[in-house]
Amino acid sequence: MGVDPNPAMLATARERAAAAGAQARFVEGDAYHLPFEDNSFDVVRCERVYQHLDDPTAATAEIARVLRPGGRALLIDTDWQTAILHPGDPAVVARMTAAMLEATPNAKSGRSLRGLLVAAGFVIDDMGSEAVIWDPVTVRPMFDQLGRRALADGVITQQERDDLTAAIDAGIEIGDYLLSVTMFAVLAHLPPH
Ligand SMILES: C[S@@+](CC[C@H](N)C(=O)[O-])C[C@H]1O[C@@H](n2cnc3c(N)ncnc32)[C@H](O)[C@@H]1O
Repeated sequence: MGVDPNPAMLATARERAAAAGAQARFVEGDAYHLPFEDNSFDVVRCERVYQHLDDPTAATAEIARVLRPGGRALLIDTDWQTAILHPGDPAVVARMTAAMLEATPNAKSGRSLRGLLVAAGFVIDDMGSEAVIWDPVTVRPMFDQLGRRALADGVITQQERDDLTAAIDAGIEIGDYLLSVTMFAVLAHLPPH
């Protein structure tokens, strides 16, 4: 079963599942009110959703509710504080990142996944992390959007934005760049009873 509140995401998920010949089914719903009975799943996997949640504690309680005793949860999410944009003035990048962190409900979600699971009664089994490294083409729209927002918020000047864009473009040109963010994954289980 897959759950998402966005019908467009559900449509894409259904298409991909059908193409893969998978038996998966998808329903509209949100993390705070999963449309399932108590104790009805062996495993819940939740990826890149917590960063959008303003009440991650409630969502974690909901995951615990639908899992059977002994059931397992895998939470995967980004910690946007770890974003690296190189080259460019680190002070300007830091101000841009801070503005983005301010505007996203739970942008540092990666670091709190473990604590949320422990607080909800889970036992931690494993943790892992991996840096997502973007290619410049993929990240360009996000970089432009971040720059626009930071400029509108008044945390960087037009000159600083132009200089940063020029530095990134020059880095890409000679192959000296790193555009990345760290994802964290935490695997846990509920006590058997
Ligand atoms: C970055 S996408 C990840 C999609 C998918 N989980 C995956 O791993 O490919 C973030 C998803 O979180 C969903 N989302 C946002 N708020 C949510 C909420 N309150 N409950 C459940 N999903 C939510 C969005 O609709 C979007 O599909």
